Amino acid sequence: MNRILDIVERHTHHGSRRRHNNTMAIMRKSKQFKWQRKHLIGLRDLSAEEISYILDTAQGFEQISRRSVKKAPPLRGKVVVNLFFEDSTRTRNSFALAANRLSADTIEFTKKSSADSKGETLLDTARNLEAMGIDIVVIRHSAAGAPMFLSKNINACVVNAGDGFCEHPTQALLDVYTIRQLKGSLEGLKIAIVGDIAHSRVARSDMWAMTKLGAEVTLVGPPTLIPAEASRLPVNVSYSLDDVIEKVDVINMLRIQFERLGGNPFPSIREYSRYFGLTADRMKRAKSDILVMHPGPINRGLEMESEVADGKNSVILQQVTNGLAVRMAVLFLVNQAAAQTGA
Ligand code: CP
Repeated sequence: MNRILDIVERHTHHGSRRRHNNTMAIMRKSKQFKWQRKHLIGLRDLSAEEISYILDTAQGFEQISRRSVKKAPPLRGKVVVNLFFEDSTRTRNSFALAANRLSADTIEFTKKSSADSKGETLLDTARNLEAMGIDIVVIRHSAAGAPMFLSKNINACVVNAGDGFCEHPTQALLDVYTIRQLKGSLEGLKIAIVGDIAHSRVARSDMWAMTKLGAEVTLVGPPTLIPAEASRLPVNVSYSLDDVIEKVDVINMLRIQFERLGGNPFPSIREYSRYFGLTADRMKRAKSDILVMHPGPINRGLEMESEVADGKNSVILQQVTNGLAVRMAVLFLVNQAAAQTGA
């Protein structure tokens, strides 16, 4: 930690000192809390205190994006690799921008343009990148457990950007950040997560983050899209959006993951939309201050009508904006943990 503070002090020019005050405040606050994880694999094992700490750290980083010079030095000299084996618009660009704002160098890896097509394994890919001197790997992979596997086999910090159906921790962190920003706290809030729960890593990470922070979560969808494990989780289950819509403070609509669906989990798109779509008509029965969320990308007209996606209760783009501060916080914290342990 002291090393990072030294680096910031050394690289903070006299005239720009005020701009760095907030970054310094974040770092001093970090001194009082023992953040010890050099990897962020999932939220299942994080305590409420750790989750809140990431959110508090993100809050400090939020203002960097509002400056005319959108840079802070904590990751200067560090290299962040975006190792994406699946497509992404929001997560990949958000991590790239977050790393740049913290002054890191970045490498963009995508499956399509890599030696993956020549049969190179995930571990060989990571080790070859590591041989170039990287510090943080941000990985998205279709195989659940890929980030955990890497974290046990390479020296760099590993951050999960979505693995199979398992977890998408930074999406859930930006979701709870947005709720906390707009509602003050998650304690006692009623939250519905609606749709394709079975194939959703977002739902799993959301569920852990939201319940740990005190919210009451209800999973809503057709029985074919609610996983059997739901009965063992700290959540309610409902098969009727109409039963739930009037009661909740927040509704998070999930994308139907057509690329992962096996069989026919519902008779037709029209029928799914009729029973589980967030329509303008259904919204008339919702609380007037309900927050409408979606991790993106949206299948407009299926999960949600455009009138709702772009309506006054929608916070979907605010989620994306907040993702930047949250990812800056995560990169900053894992790097800090690695520096503390000398790993
Ligand atoms: N929410 C989310 O993970 O979006 P991307 O697939 O575009 O990263």
